[in-house]
This record gives sequence, C-alpha cells and structure tokens, in this order.
Amino acid sequence: MSGKAGLAGRSVVITVGPTREYLDPVRYLTNASSGRMGRALALACRARGARVVAVCGPIELTMPSGVKVVPVVSAGQMYRRTLALARGADLVIGAAAVGDYRFAGVSRGKLKKTRAPLTLTLLPNPDILAELGRRRFRAGRRAPLLAGFALETGRWLDNARAKLREKRLDLIVANRSASLEGDRTRIAVLCADGERRVFPPTSKRQAAEAILGFIERRLARTEAHAAS
Ligand code: CTP
Repeated sequence: MSGKAGLAGRSVVITVGPTREYLDPVRYLTNASSGRMGRALALACRARGARVVAVCGPIELTMPSGVKVVPVVSAGQMYRRTLALARGADLVIGAAAVGDYRFAGVSRGKLKKTRAPLTLTLLPNPDILAELGRRRFRAGRRAPLLAGFALETGRWLDNARAKLREKRLDLIVANRSASLEGDRTRIAVLCADGERRVFPPTSKRQAAEAILGFIERRLARTEAHAAS
C-alpha cells in the first residue's frame, strides 16, 4: 500500500513538541522543540487518510484540522496518555522531545531566593517509546509499528542506530539538534532491517513525506508477513 491514501483507515498516534517539568508555579525545565516536525507528520498522515491523534506538549502551533489533539504538559502525562492511546493504534511516531528528567520535588509556592547555593535533584522520566518497544513482545496483542526520532549533536547515525536497537523500534529518524526550532531539517532514516537513507537538507514538510514513505512500506510488509 503506498501513495497519497496509503494510510487510509489507519490509526496513528504522534507525540509532538517539548514537555515541561515544573519546579514551582512559575519556573520549569523544558527544551527548544517547536513541534513543527510533529505537525508536518500529522498533516502528512491526515493527507494519506489516517485517523491522527497528536499528544502535544506545550507548543505555539495549532495542529492541522482533522487531527485530534490531546494536550499534555509533563513527560509523565505524555507517557500515560500515549501508552493508553497506543493500544488501538497501527502506528506510533515519537516526534516529541520528551524531557528526560523531572524535579524530585515541586514547590506549591514560588521558591524564595536565599544567599546559599541551591542544589536541585532531578529524577529520570519514563521512556515512552522504550516502554512501547518492550510491550510489543507481549503475547496476544497486535502491536503498533514504532517510529522514533534521535536528536543528536554528534555521531548522529551511530547514536540513532543504538536508540533504534535499545528501544526496539521499527525505524528511527536521525536529526541534528540544529533542526529543533527552524523550518528546515537534515535527516537520515534507519530501519530495523538495516535499510538506511541519508537525505540532503530539506523542509520539514518534505522530510515528513519521506519518512511516511518508509513507514508505509514497512506497514505493508508487516501485513503481508502476518497474512502469509
Ligand atoms: N522518547 C520517549 N520518551 C522519553 C524520551 C525519548 O518516547 N522519555 C523518544 C523521543 O520522542 C524520540 C526518541 O525517544 O522519538 C529519542 O529521543 P531523544 O531525545 O533523541 O533521545 P533519548 O532517548 O532521550 O536519549 P538522549 O537524551 O540520551 O540522547
């Protein structure tokens, strides 16, 4: 199955944007993700006929019409909502820049400054895609195809390959941290079966088309395999 309606009838869950971890009511830890890549993917999935749910961290953008938005703030919220939605999905795309840590304690009131140094403790957040990767091997469940992103500053292909393996994904899109905020991106797609393509710099819209081309082929192959 491929082409413009290649995801017709499919159910897709996409995580989008950054997450935010509060320290107190006015301060938080986050990252520079704009949500543009996730938005471009949601749009491209819709155009191909999919039912799309976007689990969105705090972003300025509005999602394309026809995309159901589930707004979240923290990585913990994104984890819970995404895992619940993934149960009935054909495809989960992890396009969010999920915060790896949260504060050990969240103050209900604004923290007051003192003259002493301040040490903050951060606790690791659960990994959404890694958990979905673990769950896919549980017996008796139809598991969604899993696609992730690897945001890297150096050794991008090696690091992306390691994440593909460790999180047990079907496919990973490597990109450079310079891609985070802008409209353009440099990506490489690496698949679990060893297929790999490095793309020249391109717009996020074109990158989304290229990524979905890979995903459609993989979905069609998985189905053909299941039917045989
Ligand atoms: N991801 C996730 N849940 C997390 C962290 C990451 O689902 N808690 C997903 C991202 O959406 C992305 C992929 O895992 O699809 C890789 O995220 P990335 O930030 O590149 O890497 P990390 O796994 O967080 O590792 P590191 O920060 O050490 O590079």
